[in-house]
This record gives sequence, C-alpha cells and structure tokens, in this order.
Amino acid sequence: MLINFTRFAHLSLTLGLTAMAATIPTAQGASLPLPYREVYQFSNAPTYVENIAVRQNGDLLVTILSPAPQLYLIQRPYSDEPSVSLVHSFDGVGIQGLAGIAETKPDAFLVVGSNLQGTSNASAVFEVDFNNAHPTLSTRLITNITEALVLNGAAALPGCGREFVLVADSFLAQVFRVDIRTGHYDVAIQVPEMKGGPDISSKTGINGVKIHDGYLYFSNSFTRGIYRLKITKDGSAADGAAVETVATVAGAPFLDDFAIGADGTIWVASNRGSTVYAIGADGKAVPVLGSANSTVAKMDTAAAFGRTERDRHMLYVTISLPGKLVAVDTSRYQQ
Ligand SMILES: *[C@@H]1O[C@H](CO)[C@@H](O)[C@H](O)[C@H]1NC(C)=O
Ligand SMILES: *[C@@H]1O[C@H](CO)[C@@H](O)[C@H](O)[C@H]1NC(C)=O
Ligand SMILES: *[C@@H]1O[C@H](CO)[C@@H](O)[C@H](O)[C@H]1NC(C)=O
Repeated sequence: MLINFTRFAHLSLTLGLTAMAATIPTAQGASLPLPYREVYQFSNAPTYVENIAVRQNGDLLVTILSPAPQLYLIQRPYSDEPSVSLVHSFDGVGIQGLAGIAETKPDAFLVVGSNLQGTSNASAVFEVDFNNAHPTLSTRLITNITEALVLNGAAALPGCGREFVLVADSFLAQVFRVDIRTGHYDVAIQVPEMKGGPDISSKTGINGVKIHDGYLYFSNSFTRGIYRLKITKDGSAADGAAVETVATVAGAPFLDDFAIGADGTIWVASNRGSTVYAIGADGKAVPVLGSANSTVAKMDTAAAFGRTERDRHMLYVTISLPGKLVAVDTSRYQQ
C-alpha cells in the first residue's frame, strides 16, 4: 500500500497523464522478461486493488483499498472467462479501505480494515468464512484496533493452530498479533527495520508480511528492503534472533507486498515503481514484469501464487492503476 495525504491528487494526476499518453502514439519499448496475461480489469476506475489471497479451490480474493472497502472473488482465474463478483462491502464499520488478507484456517480469511488518513480509531480486522457461506456468507468483526494508524499486510501463524495473525502497521512501524477467537491483540514485534521515513510521503515503513520456514519476512517501503526475523510459534522474535537483511531493491522507489515461491524466491511489487521484482537466494532483484514508465504493472501492490495444478506456477499480481489483475507465468524463470 502506498499511502499519503496526497494519494488521491496523485491518482487523478497520473490518470490524466495516462489518458494523454494513450492519444499520442509512442513506442513504449517495455521489455517483459516473463510472459503475462491480463486476468481481469475493473471497469470502474480508479479501483485501488490492494491485496490478494488464494482459496484452496484456486479462486482469488482481492481487497479494494479505495473507493470503498470491498472484497472481490475471482473464480477460475486460470480460465479464459473468469467470473468476478463482490463478496462483501465493509460499509458503516468505521474503516475506509481494505488492505491485507490472510487465510486463518482452510477457506476462512482475516481481512484488514485500514485507514487512509493515518489516524487512530479507524482500523479493524474481520473474518470472512467461506465454510459457512450458505445461505449467506459469514463475516464478522474480530476486533477494532484503536491505536493502529495504517494497518497493511497480514500473515497467519501456522504453527499455532492458526489462531493468531500478524498484522503490520506501516506508520507505527510494528506488527500486531491478533487472536482471532478472542479478539485480543498485542504488539508482537517492533524493530528499527520496520520504520518509515520522517515525512508524510515517506512515512510508510513495514508493508507486507509473510511467514516462511519459521521466519517472519517483511518488506519496508521506505528502505526498499526485505528483511527476515526468526520467530517462535506464537509470533514473537525467537530468543537471540536478529533481523537479517534479505535484499535491498535499490532501483525501486518503494516496495509493496510480496509472495514467496516454493523455491524461496521472493516476488515483490513496487507500487509507484510499477515493476515486479524476483529476488533469489543471492539477494539480487531482477525486474520480471513492468518498468518505471510502462503501464503493464502500474502501481503494482501485491502478488500470490495459484494453488491448483493448472496455475501453481502462475504469479497473480494486483495492480492499482487501473485496478486489474495479471497472471505472470513463472515456470521458465530461473534465478
Ligand atoms: C469500533 O468500535 C466503535 C464502537 O463500537 C464503532 O463505532 C466503530 O465503528 C468501530 N470501528 C472502528 C474501525 O473503529
Ligand atoms: C480513540 O477514540 C477514543 C474516544 O473518542 C479516544 O478516547 C481515544 O483517545 C482515541 N484514540 C485511541 C488510540 O484509542
Ligand atoms: C520515466 O519518465 C520520467 C518522467 O517523464 C523520466 O524522467 C524518466 O527518465 C523515465 N524513466 C525511464 C526508465 O524511462
């Protein structure tokens, strides 16, 4: 999530420029090392598509940050005609947009209700449970997080019966731990590597969070770094664990959310960098989709791999300008 007080001015400005550019025949020259396919584009622009999760049946869930806090379902994203429907609009519950999403148990998800102004008393987390989807889908408020300023990425703790979820706060530069059953929450981790910059346009620090092989991985939008920290089963820093820098993407102006592939490669969106990078074990960031001035991945926000035999190698990337979703074929990619 790229967030600052001038977001909407920036959005409309960029939209204006894009519209102008479209009328001028220019050679874009975007080199795309990996093949991709557009899965779906939202027709009402601007739709700020913010984050993504994949259901066990292969359907995608995408969160909308603006203009409304909405959750969409994209069924059969690997087919030629995926079907798209609104799952739920979180209106009248004090939040402005949706951000992170994490699967807490098979086919149940925590979604993060975020705050576009960076003020307290405007953040909450909800549960959307597809196990009880008939006759009506069950959504419930897990808890308000009153002191949160900008909640962003989320990751469930697998070793813990999946009852806890870690949720990043980009402005407080920390990770909350939420007990899904009781709604109790506390601060699980707060380290200097989560901090953002000094002014409002650079204040977004920690952004995406993922748990992989006993480590909490997180991106920092301000430092353009990916870090990891060994954690315990309940999401606290392991005894004596120190934060390790996995990579710094010097060429990107910003880092957003990311996915970790089965082989450990990290696939990170760069938002206003409009580029997706793949980071291998050597820590080098290779641009694999989009480029600074191309519209292919303009303001890319997050990524997730497919979960079916058909699309396990497909990296689904959410893009916010205009709101769309693309599938990147990573099967030929080698570090
Ligand atoms: C939190 O709780 C209050 C009081 O119940 C409610 O009015 C508000 O809408 C809730 N949501 C947020 C995000 O604070
Ligand atoms: C939230 O709102 C309440 C009631 O208006 C206020 O007392 C409190 O200071 C606010 N901020 C936080 C962080 O709870
Ligand atoms: C992108 O566009 C900006 C503004 O027009 C320009 O300054 C910059 O050099 C361009 N970057 C690339 C990689 O083409």
